[in-house]
Amino acid sequence: MFDSLKALPADPILGLGIKYKKDTNPKKIDLGVGVYKDEAGNTPVLNCVKKAEQHRLTTEQSKAYISPGGSPLFNSEMAKLIFGADHKVLAEDRARIISTPGGTGALRVAGEFIKSCKSDATIWVSNPTWANHNGVFAAAGLNVKTYPYYDYENKSLDFDGMLNALKEVGKDDVVLLHACCHNPSGMDLNKEQWQQVAEVAKTVGFTPLLDMAYQGFGTGLEDDAYGLRLLADTVEEMIICSSCSKNFGLYRERIGACTIIGSSSIAVDIANSVLLYVARVIYSMPPAHGAAIVETILTSDELRTEWYGELKDMRDRINGNRKLIVDKLIEHGVTQDFSHISRQMGMFSFLGLSPEQVQQLQDDYSIYLVGSSRMSIAGYSNDNVDYLAQSIAKVL
Ligand code: LMR
Repeated sequence: MFDSLKALPADPILGLGIKYKKDTNPKKIDLGVGVYKDEAGNTPVLNCVKKAEQHRLTTEQSKAYISPGGSPLFNSEMAKLIFGADHKVLAEDRARIISTPGGTGALRVAGEFIKSCKSDATIWVSNPTWANHNGVFAAAGLNVKTYPYYDYENKSLDFDGMLNALKEVGKDDVVLLHACCHNPSGMDLNKEQWQQVAEVAKTVGFTPLLDMAYQGFGTGLEDDAYGLRLLADTVEEMIICSSCSKNFGLYRERIGACTIIGSSSIAVDIANSVLLYVARVIYSMPPAHGAAIVETILTSDELRTEWYGELKDMRDRINGNRKLIVDKLIEHGVTQDFSHISRQMGMFSFLGLSPEQVQQLQDDYSIYLVGSSRMSIAGYSNDNVDYLAQSIAKVL
């Protein structure tokens, strides 16, 4: 049976990491996968996570199954993080949330849920979007289409193009929006633009799906949720996929959440029964360890405060690195304007290099970027930024 298979190419993001590991050049720099690194190039376990794990080790009573929805405490704490404690959807009891295996698990569950709502559903994703969005939704059987988003020439947002396209989507379609820290462009909507998108969503009637993979990595936990909370205030139905990989540094623990908002408490209970069924037939129930860590942190004043600090440190380093590379490129004689990097948000920006130049950076300088020239901003430090800027200058 396997004879009929043809080998697939390596994943455009994860495949880079394999090449990087094999590279023996001591100067090599990994700007590929979106994993936070500190000044020393490590991805440490957060202190608050270590303490929560310690606590868990001594207090955990059982490894028995939980349920397809995961831990109720994690779910309710996540709902407060996503919406803020006083949001109207919580007061009106119109949100249901389940724990999922990472943000990707949430997206896949959302995709299958959408398919259950409408067997020929279309989901619109930004052009460009995270390389795995297309695959996840196509695998769930959805039609995937794109709306304009990033203006490569002007290194800015094509907001008019985006808004005009959203006005034309079908009322039963789903539109995926990156809640903050757009992956791969780093180009986010401002508050006024979110308001316009919310108006269009209400007028057209499409269902927004908010991908919230980086809450706290942009300007802060509250500001990063601005557009999401506004949309949740404006529309009747919405889907949210969250990840705890980046903001809690729990990448390999695979913990995220899928939230649905319905028009009423009764309507969302019915929808939730379908969501739980979807989870049950894919993976039965989510892993528990990551959820236990997050709920322990979020329910302890001490650990929560420590987490805020550690999250701020990560965010500040990324924002500092944005300015650093812009300054270093100028210092090393690059005349092309890269100031867009310091205006963007989150883990990524496009350098705006051609695929050949990206390849040259890899072949000649052991600098690893995704082919689109997406750069993971946390991947360099004060120690190697000069080498990075010089190498970019050379390929330019
Ligand atoms: C990325 O975009 O690099 C991250 O979200 C990691 C991944 O799974 O692709």
